[in-house]
Amino acid sequence: MTDALPPGSTIGIVGGGQLGRMSAMAAARLGYRAHIFATEASSPASQVSAATTVGAYDDVDALARFARDVDVVTFEFENISAAGLELLAGIKPVRPGPAVLRASQDRVTEKCFINAVGGSTASWAAVNNPDDLASAVAEIGLPSVLKTTRLGYDGRGQAVLRERGDAEAAWERLAPRPLVLEAFVDFACEISVVVARGLDGSVAAFDAVENWHRHHILDLTLAPARISAELAENARATAIRVAAGLGVVGLLAVEMFVDRDGKLLVNELAPRPHNSGHWTIDACPASQFEMHIRAVAGLPLPPATRHSDAVMKNLVGPDDLALWPEILATPGLIPHLYGKAEARPGRKMGHVTRLFPRGALPGEHGVRAVLGVLADGESK
Ligand SMILES: Nc1ncnc2c1ncn2[C@@H]1O[C@H](COP(=O)(O)OP(=O)(O)O)[C@@H](O)[C@H]1O
Ligand SMILES: [Mg+2]
Repeated sequence: MTDALPPGSTIGIVGGGQLGRMSAMAAARLGYRAHIFATEASSPASQVSAATTVGAYDDVDALARFARDVDVVTFEFENISAAGLELLAGIKPVRPGPAVLRASQDRVTEKCFINAVGGSTASWAAVNNPDDLASAVAEIGLPSVLKTTRLGYDGRGQAVLRERGDAEAAWERLAPRPLVLEAFVDFACEISVVVARGLDGSVAAFDAVENWHRHHILDLTLAPARISAELAENARATAIRVAAGLGVVGLLAVEMFVDRDGKLLVNELAPRPHNSGHWTIDACPASQFEMHIRAVAGLPLPPATRHSDAVMKNLVGPDDLALWPEILATPGLIPHLYGKAEARPGRKMGHVTRLFPRGALPGEHGVRAVLGVLADGESK
């Protein structure tokens, strides 16, 4: 592969969070240097990287300095401004490219794209004024979910409409930002697939996994998802189709609902490493982070095989972090901590993984039991 970056090259990563940290660690293992662009000098990613450029995500001077210092640019954070992206892309290769970010930054553009490549979504309608909202509610029905088209994460920027009277309050809370109304999916489970796509168009898709949320934040991932082999294969095929359609070079995470009829509905896309792929660090020969770095560096992609089944649990906020000493003392829990100085409520501080021989993933109740001190709590 002539386009492969040689060892010693520098991978620029925009964003300083845990996804950048784990990508930088994978880059280091492959003999690369990571250079982080972040708003603070001691970000979780900076702590394990060779260099950091500090700047705001719309600071064109800082972005240009950063791009000149690296061999390729990728990101762990997808909300870089369009102008910032164009600027980076004018200086160095940006992988995945600006068009992929533009498509996934906006829920309406994203859904249009998913539908265009044959992926199903819950019914949806763009909402830009109260009249749109009234006609969208009439068309889609209740319950439904009103979401900001941009900058939502961990359930922020969303309101569930259960009765007609909820529409006005939801509009007041979320407008004047552009919005989208989606049918509420009474899902059997939520799943996701992380797919890597190389510079040469080759793909490697990890197995579909099952995601349980708590207060709208990912709580547990079960790998593999407890769904039929046929559905799991359809989910992988859907993720590959979307990644190829978008021309992704790097990673694409595809979040999906399985509805009560066993139908797959794509919820959202993330063109970067994803929280529901953290289990791959411990359960796969090549993790999502290694795949990410290999893809953006133009290296070949190994198969996305899994040597073990796994449960991944996020450590969120001060309460989970307080259990760290016990986690370290529990055999079988594989600990990961992100180096964040302050444990605010709702903040992802780290995660733990527990491995099982293939086929031995515990059932619904067993999953909690195997987490030891982390067994408490409800998620779905
Ligand atoms: N249309 C929907 N029907 C049912 N549940 C939904 C719907 N949209 C979102 N949710 C729930 O809210 C969670 C967060 O929504 P999502 O669209 O993934 O936004 P984000 O992850 O960016 O906050 C989903 O994982 C799911 O549990
Ligand atoms: Mg989501």
